[in-house]
Amino acid sequence: MPSVLIIDDEQNILVTLSRALQLEGYRTEVAGGGKLGLEKVASHGALDAVLLDVLMPDMDGLEVLGRIRTAAPELPVVMMSGHATVEVAVRAVRLGAADFLEKPLSTDKVLVTLANALAIRRLAEENRSLRAQMGLARRMVGQSRCLQEILEQIRMVAPSNGRVLITGENGTGKELVARAIHEESARRAGPFVKLNCAAVPQELIESELFGHEKGSFTGASSLRRGKFEAADGGTLLLDEIGDMPLSMQAKLLRVLQEGELERVGSSETLRVDVRVLAATNQDLEAAIEAGRFRQDLFYRLNVVPIRVPPLRERREDIPWLGQHFLQLACEEHNRRAKAFGPGALERLGEHDWPGNVRELKNTIERLVIMAPGDEIRREDVERVMQPTRAGGAERAASGLEEFYSPTRQLREMVELAERAFITRAMRDCEGHATQAAKQLGLERSHLYKKMKALGIK
Ligand SMILES: Nc1ncnc2c1ncn2[C@@H]1O[C@H](COP(=O)(O)OP(=O)(O)OP(=O)(O)O)[C@@H](O)[C@H]1O
Ligand SMILES: [Mg+2]
Repeated sequence: MPSVLIIDDEQNILVTLSRALQLEGYRTEVAGGGKLGLEKVASHGALDAVLLDVLMPDMDGLEVLGRIRTAAPELPVVMMSGHATVEVAVRAVRLGAADFLEKPLSTDKVLVTLANALAIRRLAEENRSLRAQMGLARRMVGQSRCLQEILEQIRMVAPSNGRVLITGENGTGKELVARAIHEESARRAGPFVKLNCAAVPQELIESELFGHEKGSFTGASSLRRGKFEAADGGTLLLDEIGDMPLSMQAKLLRVLQEGELERVGSSETLRVDVRVLAATNQDLEAAIEAGRFRQDLFYRLNVVPIRVPPLRERREDIPWLGQHFLQLACEEHNRRAKAFGPGALERLGEHDWPGNVRELKNTIERLVIMAPGDEIRREDVERVMQPTRAGGAERAASGLEEFYSPTRQLREMVELAERAFITRAMRDCEGHATQAAKQLGLERSHLYKKMKALGIK
């Protein structure tokens, strides 16, 4: 139930307005003058809106408005006046009034205006908390030497236009590094665009990168801009660059050298201004040896190398990251803030984290959802970290209950289990097919076929 403070020197208005608002479910407070009104604003602490008269003998409404804005900048103030000149209205808006009502007041108009002011305030609050969360989610956390060195490298390379090749195991934070480089560069106002080369079928990569003209191939029903065009003036992250098909590598090389490209099916040459960052978990030098990656492209991309070490090589970061993800997860799931109890962080520090920071993040999210109290105990960590991959006949037998039915045939049951298993792996890997495939012991293309067959999107 929102609380509204009405400030007016006319007793009559205070009474009628207050009654009308209460009938609509508002809580009301009244003040017969500007000074008293300011005192109430200062002492109440939980007001949602103010209705404020302009002409009052003890203090001018505009002055009251100015002071409220300083004392409580978030509080929406709707002005009311019987002698509204344009000049007064303009000043009120400049001072940050939420709206302006003319006297004599119509109850309907007051209610609509008030509801609007409250809705705008709610949105502003939501916006602020989302932005804070985003900022928080983008922050690179960690106190280890390696992480501090990476942050230093980011600071050094960001302002240049230099290409950076970011290497590291899955889930170590490569994408976060790329975003940080973009954010700290002069291109930060421009777009940050990402293409996951492993997630796009080979035959579509060229059109993803360069775009295509209408009708240039079956399925190209309209003109489409590619990622390079989308990233013009900004940064393009080529993720999983090791999965770029050889045929595309030559075309990519040309864009990097000349800054020029053609859409598929077009002869018009387009110029783009894009900073290219690349990331991979593969050993590209080995890929060059094996003839899967062009050496000239490697040199073009690898102007500045940044290696993000696996989490097990920087265990000092685990408590910091744990604390950080705990805060994020509580906010995201609207849980009351939880804290780590004795031994919980230590237990996290003992694990090897093959899935690196992403695995740690997922684990903490699970803890926030599953740990009952305000405190995350060592036992909770123990329970959540039970190996998910390792099986044992016992676990398999208990898992059977989910799928078993006397009327079901084996093939159907296997399909159900496959679907559950793949869905879970994809979720654990945040939709990252290459990683999920690895975890499941499948070729990536095989995983795609399976997902298609099982109808998993
Ligand atoms: N130092 C860090 N501080 C805070 N969050 C981090 C840090 N490192 C990684 N993360 C978070 O961990 C998750 C995985 O990171 P990211 O996606 O950048 O990894 P990646 O190396 O690109 O993984 P992949 O190889 O699987 O694509 C993200 O949610 C990211 O925000
Ligand atoms: Mg990534």
